[in-house]
Amino acid sequence: MARTLFIKTYGCQMNVYDSARMADVLAPLGYGPVEAADEADLVILNTCHIREKAAEKVFSELGRLKALKDARARQGRPLFLAVGGCVAQAEGEEILARAPQVDLVFGPQTYHRLPEMVAKLERGQGRLLDTDFPPEPKFDHLPAQGAQGPSAFLAIQEGCDKFCTYCVVPYTRGAEYARPAQVILDEARRLVDQGAREITLLGQNVNAWQAEGWSLARLLDALAEIEGLERLRYTTSHPGAMSDDLIGAHRDNPKLMPFLHLPVQSGSDAILRAMNRGHDADDYRRLVDRLRAVRPDLALSSDFIVGFPGESEADFQASLDLIASVGFAQSFSFKYSPRPGTPAAQLPHPVPEAVKAQRLDRLQALIDSQARAHLESCVGCVLPVLLDRPGRHPGQLAGRGPTMQPVHLAAPPSLFGQVVAVRIRESHANSLAGELAA
Ligand code: 5AD
Ligand code: SF4
Repeated sequence: MARTLFIKTYGCQMNVYDSARMADVLAPLGYGPVEAADEADLVILNTCHIREKAAEKVFSELGRLKALKDARARQGRPLFLAVGGCVAQAEGEEILARAPQVDLVFGPQTYHRLPEMVAKLERGQGRLLDTDFPPEPKFDHLPAQGAQGPSAFLAIQEGCDKFCTYCVVPYTRGAEYARPAQVILDEARRLVDQGAREITLLGQNVNAWQAEGWSLARLLDALAEIEGLERLRYTTSHPGAMSDDLIGAHRDNPKLMPFLHLPVQSGSDAILRAMNRGHDADDYRRLVDRLRAVRPDLALSSDFIVGFPGESEADFQASLDLIASVGFAQSFSFKYSPRPGTPAAQLPHPVPEAVKAQRLDRLQALIDSQARAHLESCVGCVLPVLLDRPGRHPGQLAGRGPTMQPVHLAAPPSLFGQVVAVRIRESHANSLAGELAA
């Protein structure tokens, strides 16, 4: 029987990936995707627990969905509500208690069991909670990945053993797990057969990936052999796991794009220590120097947290200094948010909210000016752009340059999915505009 599915995704690229895989898992049951909750028979919220704000969104969305579910019950067309992802993992019992409209709660490691869970719901077998860390990796039980288009994500690693003191990921996603190399290569070949020209390898600690004696550099080399695959990227990386051969891959692997998301979080050694990052600010600077020595055009991206407990004005200034000295093509920055169950949530000396807000503004002004400068530096250049999405206007396509620059241009639909040479004419706040180079 044909049924409809709407998945709303919060949080990181891993969640985006998981949502696509949930749809793959449910397709054999007859669930096809729709664009809005009010057209769906099953709504899944795939949630994020990384900061308080992200987690709160779930409960407000559940409030809206309750009204929809009640209306649908009156119409005699039931709506099932499921909550998955990291909030489900961390607060599963609380969700069931606080939100009686929720039928199903499942964690990031159990969504391969969705067919059984949903079948039980359909049989009226009550409200379900499954937030195990099962001994069997879910990846072994997922069907082949559905087509993703020219730019595809492939999860190769999950979980985290680093235990940064602010972070919920080790608790919500569990211990580090690396998928076997051959499985990854097979999946990559399938994605390329389905039209992928670029693959981004995903993992919470993707550069910690190693399996059966293979390093990530060797995996990237093997992936680069796949005919038709033109670009490789990987994200997110920890500075402590940038091995010599992975640095070397940025020189030797012709398909590896000159862009690296390498979060540093802070420029203060005292704060980095309190965060349990395992490196200081100079370690990070030296690492960047080594990367740029082998790949001078490498563009860097980072995450920053402002207002970690005990962060003084001098500590904050050290973050600004690090940003100024390294130079980032883009960055993400966040106010520290205490997360239940993490060591940092117990620390004294919280930074007042107003100070956090003011520091975030100052830090964002600096990273925005660096991001704009990076885009401006592209004007006049010819960049290879993978056209992977429709443009803003009819007759346009858009895509990304080597360092993730969003580029818009007039191009015929026949060029969709190809890497084309684009002469960059203008830079805007967050994107570039250009034309096909003759
Ligand atoms: N508060 C604020 N930001 C956080 N991040 C992770 N945990 C927290 C927290 N408790 C940020 C980090 C990480 C990114 C994904 O989210 O910068 O790299
Ligand atoms: Fe959010 Fe982390 Fe879970 Fe991704 S892994 S959804 S960032 S809590």
